[in-house]
Amino acid sequence: MAAPRVLLHAPPELTAGRLKRLGEGIGKVVYASEHWVIKRPRTPSEIVALILLWKILPRPLLTRPSRPLRLLRVCLQAVMRIVPASVWLSAHVKEVWRIYSTRDRRGERLARQHLEGTPLVPEVITFPPTEVHVGGFLGCLTVTEATARVENTLHDHLSKLRDPEEIHRWLNRFLDLRQSGWQRGLFSLDAHLKNFGVAGDRIVLLDSGGLTDQWDEVHERLVFEEVVAQPHVQLGLGPVLAAHPRIANDFDQRWKEIVNRESVLRHWPQTSLSATAE
Ligand SMILES: Nc1ncnc2c1ncn2[C@@H]1O[C@H](COP(=O)(O)OP(=O)(O)O)[C@@H](O)[C@H]1O
Ligand SMILES: [Mg+2]
Repeated sequence: MAAPRVLLHAPPELTAGRLKRLGEGIGKVVYASEHWVIKRPRTPSEIVALILLWKILPRPLLTRPSRPLRLLRVCLQAVMRIVPASVWLSAHVKEVWRIYSTRDRRGERLARQHLEGTPLVPEVITFPPTEVHVGGFLGCLTVTEATARVENTLHDHLSKLRDPEEIHRWLNRFLDLRQSGWQRGLFSLDAHLKNFGVAGDRIVLLDSGGLTDQWDEVHERLVFEEVVAQPHVQLGLGPVLAAHPRIANDFDQRWKEIVNRESVLRHWPQTSLSATAE
């Protein structure tokens, strides 16, 4: 493990102007300058409002975080402030929230232990507390670390590619990256293409949330994989590969060969097999 690079000052570009809102997930909003990103953890109320929206709204509306969706979320948070929690904080919402936050914290710990300083993740720098300006409602934010900005998420990168061979190459790289994770005793339970980024000709893990080192959890996930008929659709690649059925087919086949119990177990370090493995 290599510690993050410690700087005496934040890179000047982080404080030079207002940072751009670059992306968001359920737990974080990501802002960027030219070469660096900073992550703002969402407040519990934001996360709960998002989980509620996921329950209420039809899927297609949710796939692209957009301004109207953000406004809806803010309105919902206002309603949540007036209406008693017993009405909206159901056992199910609590459970989703609990799973998300424990997986996020554990993933972050595992990434720091096993991935920091490797080519599998973008570089992280730390610096003394620094105030940065961000877009949106928030204004200012104090941060002590930043992550190297990648050109694109793997999802966006693949959506833009036209050459089928090129698409094929990136999908293979993605499978290779996952296998190098398994060799380190790490498996991503949230291996969505938006959680990976493209840096030059490398793929890196952007979102460590969902990383596990527990074989029983990996096993459970792989049992689920067995019933997924078209992994590329599951990964959100349906539209990208619609025009390339051969590549879609090849990829699904290779995925099935690689993302299964025997194959993952072959990569998994024997020392991290828990008693539940066999
Ligand atoms: N280093 C980075 N460079 C460029 N974009 C990033 C970077 N890290 C995150 N993002 C963008 O921000 C989004 C949300 O970040 P992520 O860590 O996945 O948060 P969450 O845990 O909420 O899902 C990503 O899907 C991606 O679009
Ligand atoms: Mg994410």
